[in-house]
Amino acid sequence: VADIRSLYASQDIFTYDPGYMSTGSCKSAITYIDGDAGVLLHRGYAIADLAENCSFLEVAYAILKGELPNQAQKEKFEFDITRHSMLNEQINFFFRGFRRDSHPMAVLCGVVGAMAAFYHDSIDINDPHHRMVASYRLVAKMPTIVAWAYKYSLGQPFMYPQNKLSYAENFLHMMFATPCEEYKVSPVLARAMDRILILHADHEQNASTSTVRLAGSSGANPFACIAAGIASLWGPAHGGANEAVLQMLHEIGSVDRIPEYIKKAKDKDDPFRLMGFGHRVYKNYDPRAKIMAQTCHEVLNELGVHDEPLLKLAMELERIALEDEYFVSRKLFPNVDFYSGIIFRAMGIPTQVFTCLFALARTVGWIAQWNEMLTDPDQKIGRPRQLYIGSPYREFVPLNKRA
Ligand code: ACO
Repeated sequence: VADIRSLYASQDIFTYDPGYMSTGSCKSAITYIDGDAGVLLHRGYAIADLAENCSFLEVAYAILKGELPNQAQKEKFEFDITRHSMLNEQINFFFRGFRRDSHPMAVLCGVVGAMAAFYHDSIDINDPHHRMVASYRLVAKMPTIVAWAYKYSLGQPFMYPQNKLSYAENFLHMMFATPCEEYKVSPVLARAMDRILILHADHEQNASTSTVRLAGSSGANPFACIAAGIASLWGPAHGGANEAVLQMLHEIGSVDRIPEYIKKAKDKDDPFRLMGFGHRVYKNYDPRAKIMAQTCHEVLNELGVHDEPLLKLAMELERIALEDEYFVSRKLFPNVDFYSGIIFRAMGIPTQVFTCLFALARTVGWIAQWNEMLTDPDQKIGRPRQLYIGSPYREFVPLNKRA
């Protein structure tokens, strides 16, 4: 390894690997994926076991600190996160500068980036205490920021966090309660939300996580790095896919139109793709998608929604695609986003807030990866090379002589 490294460092050779198809950018002990087998482990634990048995904050603790917490550690962590959930009151005014019809992801990018201006006492990246406080602040405040972005779009008053509620309950409360109406959080919905957060908590070196690491590699502060991750997540090929899945299902409209859309997805002259299908790493069923589909049934049952047309449409689309040679030969399966939009919609979460929820959950993964990078002795500024394909040297032409 040392010989290969010195060869690359000599700058005599480098690999050209668009999209990092086969380039490892770092070492990491947080998340393991076996895309061929459809396996996802966080700190060695299977995602299904974590989703079945843990709360989101237990998983967040493991992702941040390497081990699942014992009872005392769990209580202390819950206390620490809860006491950081309120936003500096000045941020309230910062929100008010946005147009009411801004996309909530735009608000999220802006507010999270601006946190560096409000929390100066946790931006020294060389101080482990600063890094820990910044990590706690980000995990704790993200539900408040997302809920406030939503409330702001409605023109409703912001709801402040309530310390007696769990992480997921508190988020749902800030989203749906109003000062004049009490909102009783359903335990089934709170559990479903908790599970959805677990399913999105980390996913090794995807586009947004790599963006956080790249931004952080220059020594940028944690809030700026997470804002960069949010920007990357926003794209429809990444976190924006759950919003796009719902739009696609609405556009398809009925089961009899599925073959038409399958045909479009296979047509190389048509940019349309089946949203929520395919994954760079999973060449088997995404293990998160299985749990998401099951959660979807549970939520609809709890809400008394039977025969949800979008769910029927999604299930039929999945069935038809998985029998089609095009999808089978390319190993294109539903990914985590395929069913999540249907659950969010049933819960009353508007489509524009879907990707914000993904960002909320992924914040712990991003910040754990950022911390891991900063404590890695091999850490260097991220600086990819390029294949130059432009003009060779040419004589300068003064403006009055140019054709
Ligand atoms: N619909 C139709 N065809 C597809 C799809 C799709 N959803 N996804 C991939 N393909 C095809 C490609 O056209 C390509 O075909 P070809 O070999 O004939 O040229 C082949 O499958 C391989 O696709 P790539 O684009 O090379 O795969 P890549 O790993 O670069 O892309 C991605 C992965 C971006 C997720 C892609 O599958 C996609 O666009 N899916 C839809 C968007 C989506 O659901 N994104 C969410 C990803 S998961 C997440 O971020 C949580």
